[in-house]
Amino acid sequence: MDYPFPTNQHGHLEIGGIDAVDLAQKYGTPLFVYDVSIIRKNARAFVETFRSLGVKYQVAYASKAFSSVAMLQVANQEGLSLDVVSQGELYTAIQADFPVEKIHMHGNNKSREELEMAVQYGIGCIVVDNFYEIELLKEILQETNRSMEILLRVTPGIEAHTHDYILTGNEDSKFGFDLSNGQAEQAFLLANASPLLHVKGLHCHIGSQIFETDGFIMAVRRLFESLHQWNQVYDYTPEVLNLGGGFGIRYTAEDEPLPLVDYVEALVSEVKQQAESLRLPVPEIWIEPGRSIVGNACVTIYTLGSIKNIPGIRKYVSVDGGMTDNLRPALYQAKYQAVVANKANHDLKEQVSVAGKCCESGDMLIWDIDVPDINHGDLLAVFSTGAYGYSMSNHYNRFPKAAVVFVEDGRDQLVIKRESYKDLTRNDLQYAYNGGVLN
Ligand code: LLP
Repeated sequence: MDYPFPTNQHGHLEIGGIDAVDLAQKYGTPLFVYDVSIIRKNARAFVETFRSLGVKYQVAYASKAFSSVAMLQVANQEGLSLDVVSQGELYTAIQADFPVEKIHMHGNNKSREELEMAVQYGIGCIVVDNFYEIELLKEILQETNRSMEILLRVTPGIEAHTHDYILTGNEDSKFGFDLSNGQAEQAFLLANASPLLHVKGLHCHIGSQIFETDGFIMAVRRLFESLHQWNQVYDYTPEVLNLGGGFGIRYTAEDEPLPLVDYVEALVSEVKQQAESLRLPVPEIWIEPGRSIVGNACVTIYTLGSIKNIPGIRKYVSVDGGMTDNLRPALYQAKYQAVVANKANHDLKEQVSVAGKCCESGDMLIWDIDVPDINHGDLLAVFSTGAYGYSMSNHYNRFPKAAVVFVEDGRDQLVIKRESYKDLTRNDLQYAYNGGVLN
């Protein structure tokens, strides 16, 4: 399989010009290693395609895929905007000095506190999700004597999955306003009537890890059906269409993602076509890629520990991490590919299954993978762990969170420290009552 990481003269995996074995020794394992040049390459593929097509655009990095101060600095260096979905993600953006006017806030249950923070910092746009939020936001704006640019999140009745999409007449989703039953129109009228809210346009997100463009094209058509009507009836002209994220990446040989350029070209061409045929100005096109920016840029390095052979059935090889640093196999049956980083040029000899170290039978990272002769202490490098890996990591079994390193141009730098046991109990308090037991 063609992962963008070569084997060096020692037969070791190399990431961003650095030997993976050296990285493991220097920083310990489990270790997330991002090759920043790949993040930049992905970001530039989006940005440069939009630029070459001569439309107004924003590429907002969906920071839920992986948010950290260093990551948001890189996103900013690459000219990306930012999609945040919580106060924590917004706080991280502020800590990274991300330009507030390029931050968009999402969420299906934004709290008053979250909205207040967004208003206080004057972020670029709030993607409004429901009627309660419209009222809450209006109240806050009134109290603070401010106004806010918003997009309305709508559900166009299209749900895309990896290889296909389905049409759902009446979308059953917790997100957004339904386009088909007049809810979106009602929300538009309510928001548009407020002098405090400026409705810049519509937002939709049809799914994640999508390998074709048809679903996006259908969504654009659905959005334009409503926009055309609102233009005719209410004289409304949208300035922005945000078509969300969801562009697929390769985890294993089974995955066949399109080049990132293809998604952008398809979206832009459909938006232009629809706008022209309905005699509307071509709106700005915004997208929100997360996985496709960071997913394939990262490798997680683990140390192999116990090996359990059940003759004729299976050999379990355990690593020093698992569902605490990568929940995706346990949660979605997600598949991954890996190599033994210190034996990257050895012949493959046997098939094993890679287990995590959590007390849970479902904590399996990879079923049935071919490996060379392996031993305790070997290093396993799992590919494409950059999206929804660290960001979904957790403290199950009280394992401290792993460290994250950025490598680029032969330099390596720690960007998130490994958690200590002290970190784990930092918020724990002694219980002051002994249940009445005398001692
Ligand atoms: N915009 C919105 C409104 C979203 O809900 C999402 C992802 C994105 C953008 C970014 O999507 P991406 O380009 O990363 O596919 N934890 C799951 C993925 C959940 C995605 C949630 N929303 C996973 O590990 O596969």
